[in-house]
Amino acid sequence: MNLLMCLFCLLLDLTSIHSRMLMQSRIIGGHAAAPNSIKYMVSLQSTSSQHFCGGSLVHRYWVLTAAHCNIGEDQMMIVAGDYKVNIFEGTEQYAKPHRLVTHPLYNSSTNNADIMLIKLRAPMVLNKFVSLAPLPRQGTGVVEGHLCQVSGWGHNSVGGGQVPIELRTVTVPIVSAARCNSSDSFNGNITTNMICAGYQSGGKDACKGDSGGPLVCRGRVYGMVSWGNGCGDAKFPGVYTAVSRFRRWIDQTIYGPHLRCFGYR
Ligand code: ARG
Repeated sequence: MNLLMCLFCLLLDLTSIHSRMLMQSRIIGGHAAAPNSIKYMVSLQSTSSQHFCGGSLVHRYWVLTAAHCNIGEDQMMIVAGDYKVNIFEGTEQYAKPHRLVTHPLYNSSTNNADIMLIKLRAPMVLNKFVSLAPLPRQGTGVVEGHLCQVSGWGHNSVGGGQVPIELRTVTVPIVSAARCNSSDSFNGNITTNMICAGYQSGGKDACKGDSGGPLVCRGRVYGMVSWGNGCGDAKFPGVYTAVSRFRRWIDQTIYGPHLRCFGYR
């Protein structure tokens, strides 16, 4: 009986995850990316091939994404080399997670340190469609107004059916922490581990389902889609995990404590 109840709850849980995903929309105010132009972009999918988050391939064995994209390693499949999600185009590579490493400071109520590394069971093969994402150096920043690009698939299911959705992208300027934290915006909820991006007039933004996907400035993944208040709202820019704050943690996690031996940095 207990076991049955458990299964029932799990089912309810999965259904609510799914219906929440159905309400989410895609990159706001952007356009379709050129096919396979963002080669380090990956799609995180449920075992039923439902896209739910984005990510960046940072090593043949490792994907960088948001900690809030953690739905449990048994539930996840990572797809690299994708363009139209849910259409097989022959360029895709699939891998299951071997291990999820959520940042120890991640806090799901404040969204602080919304960052996770996924070690893959088998490495992705780097080719014309799959490459590694360039990361910023530890502690570097991007000035207010600098134009960056955010990309994602959002959700891809309309009315229960599956619609082929190509990767979309939109350009947004960096917003200073001071402005993002002001009382008529996020009112102090932006930590030093977050960066904001969006136009003062709104209209261009990432949205739910784009989570974990890259915000690229100067050719490097400076941000990852993390949270917001609605999407494309003039008062509320998109909030991103500040990847440069975690560069050391990323390298430590991937390469271990013997980093110096490899001559990185
Ligand atoms: N938390 C959302 C997700 O899980 C991402 C929200 C981003 N919102 C925004 N306005 N930029 O997909």
